[in-house]
Amino acid sequence: MDKLRIRGGRPLEGEVRISGAKNAALPIMCAALLSAEPLSVTNVPRLMDTSTLTKLLGQLGVEVKRSDGRMVLQAKTISRPVAPYELVKTMRASVYVLGPLLARFGEARVSLPGGCAWGPRPVDLHIRGMQQLGAEVEIEHGYIVARCDKLKGATLSFEISSVGATGNILMAAAMAQGKTIIENAACEPEIEALAEFLASMGVGIEGVGTSRLAVTGTDRLHPADASMIPDRIEAGTFLAAAAMTGGDVEVTSVTPGHLDAVIGKLEEAGADVLVHERSVRVRAPERLNPLRVTTAPYPGFPTDMQAQFMALLSIASGTSTITDTIYQDRFTHVAELQRLGADIRVEGNTATIHGVPSLSGAPVMATDLRASAALILAGLVAKSETRVSRIYHLDRGYERIEEKLQGLGAAIRRVRGA
Ligand code: EPU
Repeated sequence: MDKLRIRGGRPLEGEVRISGAKNAALPIMCAALLSAEPLSVTNVPRLMDTSTLTKLLGQLGVEVKRSDGRMVLQAKTISRPVAPYELVKTMRASVYVLGPLLARFGEARVSLPGGCAWGPRPVDLHIRGMQQLGAEVEIEHGYIVARCDKLKGATLSFEISSVGATGNILMAAAMAQGKTIIENAACEPEIEALAEFLASMGVGIEGVGTSRLAVTGTDRLHPADASMIPDRIEAGTFLAAAAMTGGDVEVTSVTPGHLDAVIGKLEEAGADVLVHERSVRVRAPERLNPLRVTTAPYPGFPTDMQAQFMALLSIASGTSTITDTIYQDRFTHVAELQRLGADIRVEGNTATIHGVPSLSGAPVMATDLRASAALILAGLVAKSETRVSRIYHLDRGYERIEEKLQGLGAAIRRVRGA
């Protein structure tokens, strides 16, 4: 298993180009299942998760070709509408195949993803949504088994704002008979990107970017083309790294509006933030101010930036709190940050962080994707060496992160198979 070795203490400086968004690429790739026509997408990040999904789509019978940054997907037909446990357990987003398989082929068997590193993550809203569109759904031997003749439009109201359930129902509704209304739909930019992509395939969608989506299904979908939106979480991670290390970094190829909540908190922490049309530059203050952070659905502060801000606030000048309202126990990074000298206490879904003057390098273990990023950020400021193991979590969602950090002056290297 690969490890990262980081020697802390260097301020990050320079420019870094942000990759396409993982969480937009995954549902958009699944949308290929809806049509026999080719779909072409550019700026798809090269990540473990996009290659796991390529493998799953390939097993289903989708032709996936990748060259020069362009991915072309074509689902002329499907061999077996099954997403097996072996793949779903490594990537929960595989559940995105449920909606399009059901809508086009009237049948899907998708493994239940089970728990994840930080606790249960149910898919009940996806299942109930499919039932409301007329599917019969049962759980058999750990699989969601869904069947239908033809999905029928309905009015759904999610009790919780869910990115995945909104995306899955959007794809199912794209081919359902009549109109589907989704109330309390997720407004995340990744869902907006999916809705725009479906619209470019010929699906009638009103309310894109809002919490009320109206979808008019169609059987006449046409070829479509899209470029992936920039990864706002990757961008936020680099901005946090710049602010923590006393650096000066410009993230380029981004949509600054998607970063408003993160930029707001960086400014509150004392960083100097300059927003341009397609880039954001952060200059760190002498010492960061403490913050009160509460995660919330978009446009609130993203749960996917919570761990990175925990690392940042561990060296701020006073006491901060972070409350995660999306996931009650997404705190597996806390124990590892404590190994680096952070002073953090967790009670319920709130972490209280007493800023310390410095962290000290140590071997630590990554427990999930964003926890891995938090440990790297902490390692970049810790005295002497930090070794981060189990970075396969990191490779799921950050494209060439150590190369990008090296480009900004960080002393970080990957040790293969260590
Ligand atoms: N929820 C339910 N039932 C459901 C679905 C969700 O109770 O059927 C709950 C969840 O347990 C959670 C809340 O609803 O408390 C929101 O979860 P959501 O469905 O929005 O999450 P997701 O679609 O499974 C996506 C991202 C996550 C990100 C969350 C929240 C993808 C592939 N994943 O997950 O990204 O944390 O939205 O923004 O888009 C990551 O990239 O590191 C990551 C975990």
